[in-house]
Amino acid sequence: MEGETKMEKAWWKESVVYQIYPRSFCDSNGDGIGDLKGIAGKLEYLKELGIDVIWLSPVYQSPNDDNGYDISDYQAIMKEFGTMDDFERMLDRAHKLGIKIMMDLVVNHTSDEHAWFVESRKSEDNPYRDYYIWRDAKEGKEPNNWGSCFGGSAWKYDEEAGQYYLHLFSPKQPDLNWDNPKVRQEVFRMMNWWCNKGIDGFRMDVISLISKVPGLPDGAVGKSGYGDFGPYCVNGPHVHEYLQEMNQEVLSKYDLITVGECSGVTVEEAKKYASSSGKELNMVFQFEHMDLDGGESFKWNHNKIRLTELKKIMSKWQTELEGKAWNSLYWCNHDQPRFLSRMGNDSPQYREVSAKMLATCLHMMQGTPYVYQGEELGMTNYPFTSLDEFRDIESINAYHELTEKGIVAPEDMFDYISYKGRDNARTPMQWDDSDQAGFTTGTPWIPVNPNYKEINAKEQMSRETSVFHYYKKLIALRKQYEIIVYGKYDLLLPDSEEIYAYMRTLGEEKLLVLCNFNEQQVEYEVPEEFAGCQGKVLIGNYRNDAAAECEIGEKIGLQPYETVVYLV
Ligand code: NOJ
Repeated sequence: MEGETKMEKAWWKESVVYQIYPRSFCDSNGDGIGDLKGIAGKLEYLKELGIDVIWLSPVYQSPNDDNGYDISDYQAIMKEFGTMDDFERMLDRAHKLGIKIMMDLVVNHTSDEHAWFVESRKSEDNPYRDYYIWRDAKEGKEPNNWGSCFGGSAWKYDEEAGQYYLHLFSPKQPDLNWDNPKVRQEVFRMMNWWCNKGIDGFRMDVISLISKVPGLPDGAVGKSGYGDFGPYCVNGPHVHEYLQEMNQEVLSKYDLITVGECSGVTVEEAKKYASSSGKELNMVFQFEHMDLDGGESFKWNHNKIRLTELKKIMSKWQTELEGKAWNSLYWCNHDQPRFLSRMGNDSPQYREVSAKMLATCLHMMQGTPYVYQGEELGMTNYPFTSLDEFRDIESINAYHELTEKGIVAPEDMFDYISYKGRDNARTPMQWDDSDQAGFTTGTPWIPVNPNYKEINAKEQMSRETSVFHYYKKLIALRKQYEIIVYGKYDLLLPDSEEIYAYMRTLGEEKLLVLCNFNEQQVEYEVPEEFAGCQGKVLIGNYRNDAAAECEIGEKIGLQPYETVVYLV
């Protein structure tokens, strides 16, 4: 039958994932830092929302140079977050509620305080030396010209070792040497240990970077004065071989959900990482839509994403992976500013409608949707007024590097980190209108967004028309209608800068999804196959006649940021 997909069904395709950034989710002991007991106490909230899986950003022991993405012991829990017992209790409670737990797996690098690195730097003949990437100086300087993602050179000279080591992120995040089979075995052993504990999957941090081109050639020099490591690290020569080995040694033995964070991934590469043959991972996080507003100085600007460009990229991923690999769907995570403040409208007048519109646009696509904590409330960017409100190493380093080198003026750079900085996503979850938004009884490690009196979970749970209830409904619809999960996607109206319109098809059924990304009213000319049809409204942010039968006219007027989904 035309439009029928031959896609294999899987629970992780039918799931909705909720990302928790533990440091900012809920603090149970008043130290200002979120923790595992705090998460355990909020599982009922997540059950109510209807999500299936939690992606837990790292909870392992870490000196917190990069908030847990620098791990010093993969089999211990960060002190501020609690104990292994707390973890097990949280896992057990989640499972009892039917919620799965996907762990963050950060194995491109460790912390420099990890026992392997402490050993590795001791001497050239130390058994752990080859666990990391050590090189001699080249003509008295760094071994190559690569810059790190967090500013400065990607190499650090270590006095004790008498050599440089590679760190694509901060100097406290030395890169592991995946070409060493012992490293791979250690990682796989550790993963099996977690699987045997009963966890349900892995989100793999920058997994597309684990294999480097031998010789580590210099990269093209950018504005920062450093060379780009991208061509020599992204989707490197052995990455698929290593992931297939991981699949054989670990993943294939359990029923897991796996997603690879793959910066620099193309559609062609994604078909290998997330191929439906199941040899590597279930899906990848691609970045093409997030990078649309990037520029000369990486992401530091105040550019707006054009809707036509966004549609082009999203549609490319939707259509080209169809039947071959599986998409992940996200607008937000702990590394991105709030999408509502980026592509929606966070003014009091349009905040809720535009949050619902963005949610609909994403959740009606093919793939596994990810909700980032607070997205389900329409949380917004933080109104930064001074540099000391920032906590993130990336923003702080970038501010100093780009202003001190005279590349960007300080006022502009402040504006850019305020708009694009990762701390926007990391302000505490807004639970209620009490002090510190109910996140902590102490002083939060990062300031609470002052809009918590208006935007908080308690208020939204009690109000049927809230963003929270809308998300709940979107999630429930995905469980009710197979077409939302498996239907084929087709873009309509590619050239409109106002409307994102697409359809989904499964067998005889069709969905028409309309989203007005604009503050103005617009009129949509309905395509022939829908005009005059009897259908029903599945969901909409202005209409409350959902589920009502209706005839679709030839033209539909859309209010500012209106969205509506018809099933025919
Ligand atoms: C990607 C993570 O999402 C980000 O938060 C982190 O800083 C880098 N990888 C380094 O681990």
